[in-house]
Amino acid sequence: MAMNGEPIVLPGNLGKPAKGAYPPCALVIFGGAGALTHRKLLPALYNLALDGDLPDHAAIVGFSMEELNDESYRNFARDAIERNSRRPICEAQWTGFSRMLSFVRGRFNEAADYQSLRGHLEYVDNEFGTSGNRVYYFAIPPAFIETCATGLHRADMIRPPNGNGNFTRVVVEKPIGHSLASSTAINDRIAAHFAESQIFRIDHFLGKETVENLMVLRFANAIFEPLWTSRFIDHVQITVAEEEGVGTRAAYYETAGALRDMVQSHLLQVLSIIGMEPPRSTAADSVRDAKLDVLQSIRPFSDEDIEKYVVRGQYGAGLVGGAPARAYRDEDNVAPDSRVETFVALKCWIDNWRWAGVPFYLRTGKRLPKRASEIAIYFKSVPRILYNANPRAHLASNMLTIRIQPDEGLSVHIISKVPGPQARLQQVAVDFHYQTTTPEAYETLLRDIIVGDQTLFMRRDSVEASWQLVDPIIESWAQSPAEPPVYSAGSWGPLEAALMMAADGRSWRVL
Ligand code: BG6
Repeated sequence: MAMNGEPIVLPGNLGKPAKGAYPPCALVIFGGAGALTHRKLLPALYNLALDGDLPDHAAIVGFSMEELNDESYRNFARDAIERNSRRPICEAQWTGFSRMLSFVRGRFNEAADYQSLRGHLEYVDNEFGTSGNRVYYFAIPPAFIETCATGLHRADMIRPPNGNGNFTRVVVEKPIGHSLASSTAINDRIAAHFAESQIFRIDHFLGKETVENLMVLRFANAIFEPLWTSRFIDHVQITVAEEEGVGTRAAYYETAGALRDMVQSHLLQVLSIIGMEPPRSTAADSVRDAKLDVLQSIRPFSDEDIEKYVVRGQYGAGLVGGAPARAYRDEDNVAPDSRVETFVALKCWIDNWRWAGVPFYLRTGKRLPKRASEIAIYFKSVPRILYNANPRAHLASNMLTIRIQPDEGLSVHIISKVPGPQARLQQVAVDFHYQTTTPEAYETLLRDIIVGDQTLFMRRDSVEASWQLVDPIIESWAQSPAEPPVYSAGSWGPLEAALMMAADGRSWRVL
């Protein structure tokens, strides 16, 4: 299925300035020579430049301890783009882009280094016309957030949001804490120096094109929303499957696990968009209010619920894509007796009028057979009469599947007659695939930070509501003597996950 007709530009472009009217801005990347900057941020900024989606007056300043200067930082950026950009480097664009890049060497806890940064930014304002507007991107471990926010404050580099055109914004990455208490503490520390309207908390799933499209799908079409209730929907499955193992991130992952790393953030954020009521408007806080309502309506997990409806697992050795894969406990920097879960499957309920009685099943894991993220909405069956009257072979129910990645798109699964004289019925899929490559999540998010649109960023209350939900699960696992069941790398997780579904007379979708 193709895209038809000319795209409709929304009135006011949803509050975003038109291309070419982006505000001037100096983007300072704390951890400017780190892995996130190399893998995601610099490639995303380069792609924005290719699309003319950076301000005419923009500068990018790396700030970290590495021994780099402007020239070697440009080489670092070029390498980042050559390795990680979705589009190849183009010399003409690179020349313009590289001029925007500079580097300040500094320690996060050294007042003098903030003074150097401040002096450099004043020079940048003169040279690039960035008008004192600042985005401070904290691409750093959470432990440094407070140090950096305080350093900026002491150097008088944070302007209050006063609405007179100048802005200071701060960007923080997940994980925001490892529990409700620690996340509240981090949020308090950020709030000591920045107003909520200046804080952009990244959950990069929200920047994925298909996730952003969920609201359009629901609220720009007449055919889905009337069915989007417990009256017509049987259950919902949300899967984020990864083929990769923990890779080089064990130091972090050993303190996190799949529940904190994926469920607390990405899966609950996706769930909140699927479950939300139509927001009052497309303004950031209307949308975020509606999402928060969902998180706050999810039934808290009792001990018994955790026992019955939350399954964890850890990958053992196996075969992934035909190649042997090590067990999690044999990965570099993983404790040989680690109890960290690399897989979670759970069932939850949104206790509101719309969703009463509809189970939401969530699953995510590393070292599963393939990389595939998908939302599947299962509709209720038609009555067991007419075409569904055969007691031995029931018709499959209708389903809407939304593929977040890869192969972004959606399919409506319906029953259709197989052509011919006999009455043979079959499920067929009406498919929509994006025909162009979609921008990387970080491109969308960086552009929104520069233009000041907080819609796709996690508000403090929603981060804390998510921790509130998962905290009892974390505590219960910590107290349990049981180890997470082991599943073979390359399988769909532990048997317990399938059994939980089977107990409800359902099965996980085969992806
Ligand atoms: C990150 C997690 O937030 O998301 C990783 O920390 C995970 O563990 C990653 O691999 C998945 O993101 P994506 O965009 O590659 O699906």
